[in-house]
Amino acid sequence: MNQDAKKQRAAEAAIGFVEHDSVIGVGTGSTANYFIDALAKQKGRIDGAVASSEATASRLKTHGIRVYELNETGDLALYVDGADEATKHRTLLKGGGGALTREKIVASASRRFVCIIDDSKLVDRLGRFPLPVEVIPMARSFVARQLVKLGGQPELRRGFTTDNGNLILDVHNMEIADPKRLEEKINQIAGVVTNGLFALRPADILLIGTEDGVERVT
Ligand code: A5P
Repeated sequence: MNQDAKKQRAAEAAIGFVEHDSVIGVGTGSTANYFIDALAKQKGRIDGAVASSEATASRLKTHGIRVYELNETGDLALYVDGADEATKHRTLLKGGGGALTREKIVASASRRFVCIIDDSKLVDRLGRFPLPVEVIPMARSFVARQLVKLGGQPELRRGFTTDNGNLILDVHNMEIADPKRLEEKINQIAGVVTNGLFALRPADILLIGTEDGVERVT
């Protein structure tokens, strides 16, 4: 079974967490797209969704799902999204698609965060995948120098602008021994919007698509 089929399995299992007539948060990426497609098959199950990116908003709309602004809804009962890496402690590394800031906002505004991944994303320690950091454009070089001091090797994601009009530095070879501490530390650098560590607000439930079915970590 390939990776995509495992992603789809995990995404379909997340439908079980969706309450009827609710407004839910929806993440970004290929796994989240499988979730949107599965939602679309359940016409009228939800009232609508808050999207974590323009790409997700447009996919939701294409499927006839109403898209709300987070400012209109208040807190959400559920957020469903993928990840680039996850540990069994449910801490995540995200932002491969560059949507990390809106993803973190919607995750933080949600009472329950269900993270859907295939089993290749499960790691013992975060950081093999380069850590994305969203930066205000004028602070790019300054932030990069601070990230070098923290032991990483930042690389500008060329030709990419976030939905918020900012840049992404992908930080290679960062030692992530204490994800919460590092998340806080990077976020304190002036010019950083946020970074792709989801340790302060980890997932509540991990659904892992495997060869044998869907493993659930709570
Ligand atoms: C988007 O910015 C990311 O955080 C995604 O959640 C992550 O890249 C997972 O993507 P896939 O589901 O495409 O692997």
